Amino acid sequence: MPEPSVVRPVGQPPLRELSREQLARYFTTTWETYETLFRGVTDSAESYCARVHPFRLPLVFYLAHTASFYVQKLKLVGLVNGSGMPELDERMEQGVSPEHPDELAELTDWPDPETAWSYRKQVRDIVLRVIENIPLPTTVEPQSPVRALLMGIEHENIHLHTSIPLIRMLPARLKEAPPGWPTTVNERTIPPTERGHGDYAYCRGGLVRFGDTRTEADRFQWDNEWGRREAEVSPFMVAPHPVTNRQFLEFVEDGGYHNPGLWTTHGASLFLSEVSRGHPNSWFRADDGSYRYHGIFDNIDMPWDWPVEVSRHEAVAYANWAGQSLISEEQFHALLNHEFGGVERVADRIDEFNVGLRHGSPRPVRGRGADSDGGAVDFVGNVALWLKDDFTPLDGESFRPDPLYPDFSEPWFGAETGLLAGASYAARGHMADVGVMRDFMQNHMDQLAGILLTRPTS
Ligand SMILES: [Fe+2]
Repeated sequence: MPEPSVVRPVGQPPLRELSREQLARYFTTTWETYETLFRGVTDSAESYCARVHPFRLPLVFYLAHTASFYVQKLKLVGLVNGSGMPELDERMEQGVSPEHPDELAELTDWPDPETAWSYRKQVRDIVLRVIENIPLPTTVEPQSPVRALLMGIEHENIHLHTSIPLIRMLPARLKEAPPGWPTTVNERTIPPTERGHGDYAYCRGGLVRFGDTRTEADRFQWDNEWGRREAEVSPFMVAPHPVTNRQFLEFVEDGGYHNPGLWTTHGASLFLSEVSRGHPNSWFRADDGSYRYHGIFDNIDMPWDWPVEVSRHEAVAYANWAGQSLISEEQFHALLNHEFGGVERVADRIDEFNVGLRHGSPRPVRGRGADSDGGAVDFVGNVALWLKDDFTPLDGESFRPDPLYPDFSEPWFGAETGLLAGASYAARGHMADVGVMRDFMQNHMDQLAGILLTRPTS
């Protein structure tokens, strides 16, 4: 077996004039990156078949699920009949999103990790055979067979992102960084907010137009990204960087987790009673009472200068405590225009940022501001950002679900789910399409996502 590795570049290949080789490479690098992450977990029932988060299924589900998803979508477009392991095709096809953790308690009959790995091997061979024979159209229509394949790839990129917060909560004895996995950042700095350069930056706002920046034929997009929005954004002030672990500690020490008035998101009381440990799940308390950090594979001293990674409940509670607001989707686009000149320009510069697993962790927030040659705000890469907005489709009332995946977005619209922008250090493929990808997640889920505060200009 070849050495597993995490492979750059991070982006999707352009869909116009997509070659079979590009498609095969994009599939293979995504598949291997996902498997590399899971190879860091010990193959045992203890690590794979127990739940590590009250609202999430055991890891073995996520290992097999992304393979099952390929089978499901390729079946829908008539390219395959199944994997030859029908019980896994069916069982691993769809996750469970419970209203309460008790609903998951009876789901205990999981396959062992060896079975999931052999299932993956079988599906990988099937997908590679499909790629050898699939017709490659010059444009990719919503129901094109090749789009089912691209959906499988982007779905796996999403699950890479959501599996990391689970794996990092496993006890250290059940995991070890696998060969090829990027290393944790060692550099430490003093953030501008602690050096007297922490002033909020002015953003002029103005007219923003977003959505449909590229046609469906050019890029893969999820259905909640179809459509277009236009808005006039008032000028606003924005923090120079996402909230750091150090800044979040003030909220923790001020009793933020014990002040119910701050927890205003839908379902926050259930989060506080069933999930929360009184600090972010990326932190833990050492025997001496100090806070340390759960890296994906290694526990380290607290990186106080990294952006904090939190759930949406925690992001909103922190903003309430600070008396400020999370950045809105429209403000995010105004900031993209202000700092970069728009979505296309940030795409051209994506390799400057901590995305695509260049590193195996966040890194210190940048020392931008008075002493920097970049923009005034450090907000691309490192962590995604929880937006102020509840999750809604870009095209509002005229939303039509994707015929290939009708329940991708629609069941999640509303106050239980938050919208994310930007891109985290683990964002690959469409997940790294800053300003285009509209990721979303239930309020109680851990994410590689942080907090960027804004306030009015006066
Ligand atoms: Fe999924």
